[in-house]
Amino acid sequence: MKVSVFGVGYVGLVTGACLAELGNQVVCIDIDPERIGRLAQGQIPFHEPGLPEMVRNNVDADRLRFTCEADEGVGHGEIIFIAVGTPGAADGSADLTQVRAVARTIGSRMDAFKVVVNKSTVPVGTADEVEQLIAHELAQRDHDVTGGADFAVVSNPEFLKEGVAVGDFMRPDRIILGSSETPAGARARVLLNRLYAPFNRHHDRTLHMDRRSAELTKYAANAMLATRISFMNEIANMADSVGADVDAVRRGIGSDSRIGPSFLYAGTGYGGSCFPKDTQALLETARAHGLSMHLVEAAQRVNQAQKGMLLRHVLARMGEDLQGLTFGVWGLAFKPDTDDMREAPSRDVICGLLRRGARVLAHDPVAMPNARACLVEDLAGDAALMANFSLCYAPQDAVAGVDALLIFTEWKAYRSPDFEAMRGVMRQPLLLDGRNLYEPAQMRELGFQYVGIGRRSAA
Ligand SMILES: NC(=O)c1ccc[n+]([C@@H]2O[C@H](COP(=O)([O-])OP(=O)(O)OC[C@H]3O[C@@H](n4cnc5c(N)ncnc54)[C@H](O)[C@@H]3O)[C@@H](O)[C@H]2O)c1
Repeated sequence: MKVSVFGVGYVGLVTGACLAELGNQVVCIDIDPERIGRLAQGQIPFHEPGLPEMVRNNVDADRLRFTCEADEGVGHGEIIFIAVGTPGAADGSADLTQVRAVARTIGSRMDAFKVVVNKSTVPVGTADEVEQLIAHELAQRDHDVTGGADFAVVSNPEFLKEGVAVGDFMRPDRIILGSSETPAGARARVLLNRLYAPFNRHHDRTLHMDRRSAELTKYAANAMLATRISFMNEIANMADSVGADVDAVRRGIGSDSRIGPSFLYAGTGYGGSCFPKDTQALLETARAHGLSMHLVEAAQRVNQAQKGMLLRHVLARMGEDLQGLTFGVWGLAFKPDTDDMREAPSRDVICGLLRRGARVLAHDPVAMPNARACLVEDLAGDAALMANFSLCYAPQDAVAGVDALLIFTEWKAYRSPDFEAMRGVMRQPLLLDGRNLYEPAQMRELGFQYVGIGRRSAA
């Protein structure tokens, strides 16, 4: 089938590459010429395992191409995905500028039936707005020119996880399709059922529903997952205070089939491009409808506090003035297998350390260039503070002479380091394990002072 994808970020590029992999003819459109130019040369703009090979194979097979030309994009696809960013606006609501721009682009150019599929995470009612924007653009044009073009707008939220995005897209738990009960909506369902048929070979994963329910499903899923994480972080803090081990509690409740084992890991709080902004956008939608969402508000508050947990441990042990002290950091990205630094908990803590006079030596397998750029921004370009921040090209370089090692991301490379060598080069053998990578008893036997999250650290 002929498919166009507007926006080649994580979602758009994975969508385009995976649909091309299944034999579709895909054109990806972006307004960023540098990004398009690099993609045309096979360079992927972010780290996502398995994606570079898939993009290259499909470009070589002439099933996938990249362009900045909106005319080409709108003309090509009978199915057009909108996969542009919906960042948080200053008031916390979702900023729909990019989505609206693509809707206008489509409406001002389309000259045949199009299924416009919104994959971006957007507030309830956005499909209606996109429909109105396209209809408005069409009404501005001479209908003889458009040939009586008709269209349908469908909501198809995306649930992929960065780091395993290709696998998630190819083997989705479910495909949510929100469409309207109109002739155009029925035509869209037929086309999208055909497009998604390869994903439904063993059993049908498609859930058809109305557009508003589809839009709300995405926010509800992210709010639920964020709430689980915050709930476990509160249980972890309780475990610390009462002398229990949150890892045992996690296994104890995760084996209950009503609860399940996923998203029960205590840590330094969630980050990334989705949970923080989507929970905030959901709260803004609630406010706009005169509602309160106390659980989601609490999940956010708990998360905000949790992001400062490792810094509070440092300050409680070493005092407010950290001059003369050096801290190692392992892991900068908000989770493993990505270089995404958006809302990463490491940022807040590193800024807190630097502002109190400390030196920081940091390592991450892929996120270091992005991390440096983000910290420059967070520290408002303060060159004196940045001079105390060094990136290390090997994990062991970030432990030499440090007064503590802080772990923010559970990269595989950090799971089984040479502990004795580490302990030998650290100035103080303090491990602040924000991802509960290690066994507290073993670490103590090896001579470390070990602080995990909810691992009897305060007892
Ligand atoms: N990143 C994730 O893990 C994830 C998962 C599920 C859903 N989502 C949602 O999917 C959407 C996209 O997220 P992302 O992380 O891929 O975004 P992103 O910021 O990585 O990429 C967005 C892309 O859209 C391009 N763009 C902006 N305006 C455009 C226009 N008018 N025409 C064409 N291209 C344009 C930008 O240049 C950029 O390349 C968001 O709504 C996000 O909430 C993201």
